[in-house]
Amino acid sequence: MQRLALTFLALPLVLRAAPGVSWCYDSQDPKCGPRYWKDLAKGCGGNNQSPINIDRRKVQRDRNLGDVLFDGYDQAPPGKWRLMNNGHTVVMRLEGVSASEHINITIGVLLEKYRALQFHFHWGNLEGNGSEHTIDGHQFPMELHLVHMNTKYKTFNEAKGHPNGLAVLGFLYKVSDVDNSNYNTIVAGLKNISRQGDFVDLASTFCLNNLLPSMAKLSKYYRYPGSLTTPDCAEVVLWTLFEEPIPISQSQLNAFVNTVHFPANGIGTSLAKMTNNFRPPQPLKNRKVYASRDATISCSAMPSVSLLLLPLLLVFQIVHFSGPS
Ligand SMILES: *[C@@H]1O[C@H](CO)[C@@H](O)[C@H](O)[C@H]1NC(C)=O
Ligand SMILES: *[C@@H]1O[C@H](CO)[C@@H](O)[C@H](O)[C@H]1NC(C)=O
Ligand SMILES: [Zn+2]
Repeated sequence: MQRLALTFLALPLVLRAAPGVSWCYDSQDPKCGPRYWKDLAKGCGGNNQSPINIDRRKVQRDRNLGDVLFDGYDQAPPGKWRLMNNGHTVVMRLEGVSASEHINITIGVLLEKYRALQFHFHWGNLEGNGSEHTIDGHQFPMELHLVHMNTKYKTFNEAKGHPNGLAVLGFLYKVSDVDNSNYNTIVAGLKNISRQGDFVDLASTFCLNNLLPSMAKLSKYYRYPGSLTTPDCAEVVLWTLFEEPIPISQSQLNAFVNTVHFPANGIGTSLAKMTNNFRPPQPLKNRKVYASRDATISCSAMPSVSLLLLPLLLVFQIVHFSGPS
């Protein structure tokens, strides 16, 4: 009996300790930053992690990679969208209403259909860029992730149990001289979601197209199998990273850096601005990155590799044939 009572007493303490071991970015607290995620979630130490650096000398052209088919991206769906500070990023939730059923993409060799659930951002700070994917080692100011779930599955968690359960469209940003007015709603909404858990329901939805480069420029992309870029880092994502960046002004970028905050880190510490909420590139390991028909590839390295191998092969043959029999 006494032991039972003790257990009950101990339980609330254990539960309260749990939020302390959650993951974060180095800018929030280096002790729970990306290099420790694999200790918190085994999946983050896997072989197919995201993001990655896209090395244009090593990508492989795949002419079978057709255009991503967008469905409902050109309409403002009925229902409400919710812009939220989830403590790690700014996310627009499209789910929870029938609205998102109207927004789909069809991609991959199997032409599978994926439904849009949410989109969110990764950014840097006032001095540094903050994209997750890099191209030839170059990091961009910000990155947009549009998260879609394979319509074969009923829930996000069910989709997360299957390879290709999710498809994420990634877009990079470039700094432009003028504001991108298509981002006014989101940038204005940042003021309402300064703290973790804050949200604001938009008065009306808009066409997702508006956030993207023109459709004509979306035939250039890179494709590879990867993971979620936050714990649990589930390796269930078919990634599409578009080459054409989205223009956004410096002041709009600064609004992300200056307006939203990470959750308080322990008792008595003040709120830190949400900055550098990106995971660094992960090893490609045994994967290949494929380039769509129109995507830029840099072929300079390809011939030099074979030219280097050729003499080696000749030497090998000479040694082989002149060796003792
Ligand atoms: C950051 O992004 C800007 C704009 O794309 C670019 O000019 C700059 O070289 C980038 N900086 C780094 C360190 O990659
Ligand atoms: C958002 O914040 C502004 C003030 O910055 C306020 O006027 C507006 O009512 C807020 N909107 C919502 C939906 O809470
Ligand atoms: Zn993301």
